[in-house]
Amino acid sequence: MKPLLHDRGVISRYREYLPVTAATPVVSLNEGSTPLIHSPLLSERAERNVFLKYEGLNPTGSFKDRGMTMAMSKAAESGATTVVCASTGNTSAAAAAYAARAGLKCAVILPSGKISMGKLVQAFVYGATVVAIRGNFDDALRLVRELGSDGSVAVVNSINPFRIEGQKTASFEIIDELGDAPEVHILPVGNAGNITAYWKGYREFHAAGKATRLPHMIGFQAAGSAPIFHDRVILEPETAASAIRIGNPASWQGATVAISESRGCIDIVTDEEILEAQAWLAHNEGIFVEPASAASVAGLFKCLASPAPACPLSSVPAGANIVCTVTGHGLKDSDTAMRGRNYAPIEAEADISSVRRALQA
Ligand code: F0G
Repeated sequence: MKPLLHDRGVISRYREYLPVTAATPVVSLNEGSTPLIHSPLLSERAERNVFLKYEGLNPTGSFKDRGMTMAMSKAAESGATTVVCASTGNTSAAAAAYAARAGLKCAVILPSGKISMGKLVQAFVYGATVVAIRGNFDDALRLVRELGSDGSVAVVNSINPFRIEGQKTASFEIIDELGDAPEVHILPVGNAGNITAYWKGYREFHAAGKATRLPHMIGFQAAGSAPIFHDRVILEPETAASAIRIGNPASWQGATVAISESRGCIDIVTDEEILEAQAWLAHNEGIFVEPASAASVAGLFKCLASPAPACPLSSVPAGANIVCTVTGHGLKDSDTAMRGRNYAPIEAEADISSVRRALQA
């Protein structure tokens, strides 16, 4: 059979840069190739060209699909029958979907009461076994490591190196589209797999001669969940951006390397700044992202208004390219987007004068 269009996910697009062979059964939902959207308003504000890498348009609504196509393909290749992950909601959604696609069983371990409804429903509809622990993400990941230690299940968290391999393809796409790496890349940081993966991708395409430069990597953590920024484990992380409510990131070391090698920085944004940036993006650019994703744009605003001492942005010339990754779709967490806002329709009778009156109100 000829390859079908829908089989063109990140593995087929970037096969030569990924650890797959002809024997690897590719499990794909046509992830990746997400839009890199130019933002005129952010560009004007930053006096640089600002682009948004809109990862919410992946099949399960977040960047996790890039890593999951790799992790699931390799799990299937190894003969695994069950995959397991800890999650703040997006990894579990992706794991459940790709496991369904692969015909594998999937179990997800989640912090009870801390997963947005949109993400929780994904795990259920894709058919995962859902366990909610009385603990946080860091506890869930500790338990998953234990479950995986005897080899009976395949762990598909980003401690699985194939996840990082898949996620690095976002950098490849950005370089392919811009013709070079951007001068600055800004992204939210939770478990720190993504910043690690982006940096790996940028370095690999630079080494392959596809980019002339490497970007400064700027990571933003939520102020109440900022272990890397504070350089200590946070035992009780808190933030409205539940996706990055993490106190002891697995890829801490990878983030530190990315930041130091790229002469970047790690900084924090408050929940208020995150939710403001989320609303700003939706109102002004027509792009609805989940709270954690808005941390990158809130971070850009902070870099412009009150940069951290190590922030490299001010040394970047006018007209340079900045990419902000917005990691997940806004519909993942509609409750948080509604909270504290007066979003209620204007009730009207089903006649034209009532509707006109409502429109004038
Ligand atoms: N943005 C979103 C929407 C996320 O879901 C996550 C992580 C991040 C940013 C941070 O990425 O962990 O690679 O630094 N979500 C994980 C999960 C932890 O379980 O879905 P990271």
